[in-house]
Amino acid sequence: MDLLTLKTWSADDILSTVELGLAVKKNPQHYAGRLNGQTLAMLFQKTSTRTRMSFEVGMRQLGGQAVVLNWMETQFALADLRDEAQVLSRYADVIMARMLKHEDLLCLSAGSEVPVINGCCDRYHPCQALGDLMSILEVRGAFEGVHMVYVGMWNNMCNSLVVACTKAGVRITAVTPEVNEPSEDPELVAAARATGLFDQTCDLDVTDADFIYTDTWVDMEFLDNPEFATEKERRVQVLAPYQINGDLLKKTDAYVMHCLPAHKGYEVTDEVMASDRCIAVDQAENRLHIQKAVLMRMIAPESV
Ligand code: CP
Ligand code: NVA
Repeated sequence: MDLLTLKTWSADDILSTVELGLAVKKNPQHYAGRLNGQTLAMLFQKTSTRTRMSFEVGMRQLGGQAVVLNWMETQFALADLRDEAQVLSRYADVIMARMLKHEDLLCLSAGSEVPVINGCCDRYHPCQALGDLMSILEVRGAFEGVHMVYVGMWNNMCNSLVVACTKAGVRITAVTPEVNEPSEDPELVAAARATGLFDQTCDLDVTDADFIYTDTWVDMEFLDNPEFATEKERRVQVLAPYQINGDLLKKTDAYVMHCLPAHKGYEVTDEVMASDRCIAVDQAENRLHIQKAVLMRMIAPESV
């Protein structure tokens, strides 16, 4: 079983993983040692704080070890991706990869003989979305009747939230005037629409939102890229009215969610991030617990 997009995961797969994440958080000692002697290989083509820490610390807390490979310090850059992936999988029990392109993640998965986890590519960020479901459940106690309003750029995060929410029974409205081209996925949108829990609009109405979610307007690999500067400026102009700020929060009691890193002054203000309505740091913590649940499901499903 891979975790590449969440699209192939059933509602039961998602819900049971989220429940396991909550159980791990409540009683981490109960799960200590479950992955004794197991190895996680982590391959990074992009930078990371939360994904790297949560997987590495989580794996160690479960009794296993984690080996981190920076793409440019390996032979991946100059070899056949499938060959290198197959070799990597002979040393490890599971692979987590943060790849620039989803197509390359699929290639890596095709070569690997062990399960592969997507640590955020240009199209999807499934691990974050699973942790976010856990955060919603902690706040609300149930998914039924919950409404998330995702505001900003339709991107990898939005894709994974739409899948996760609609499969878990959470209503999600995407307020997204712009789509980040690599994340276009008509099949995902059609499946979400079929649930009756998904809507897309350009009207920023948060009055009946329980959670407002936002993410960067420019993905990490382009943020400081001079060739992307003009497009970045264009996006800032288009998306400025969609900023999550103090005025917007006055119209709702909703909690604010962000996968982090946040770009204060752009998609969200400093004031909102610092307010007690914002649960972004709890979301980040939950990455640790959900990663442990994901790792156990991948490596030792019979033990959970
Ligand atoms: N949210 C998230 O994946 O953070 P990192 O980019 O720091 O891993
Ligand atoms: N959309 C963001 C998610 C960061 C975790 C990015 O790809 O940079």
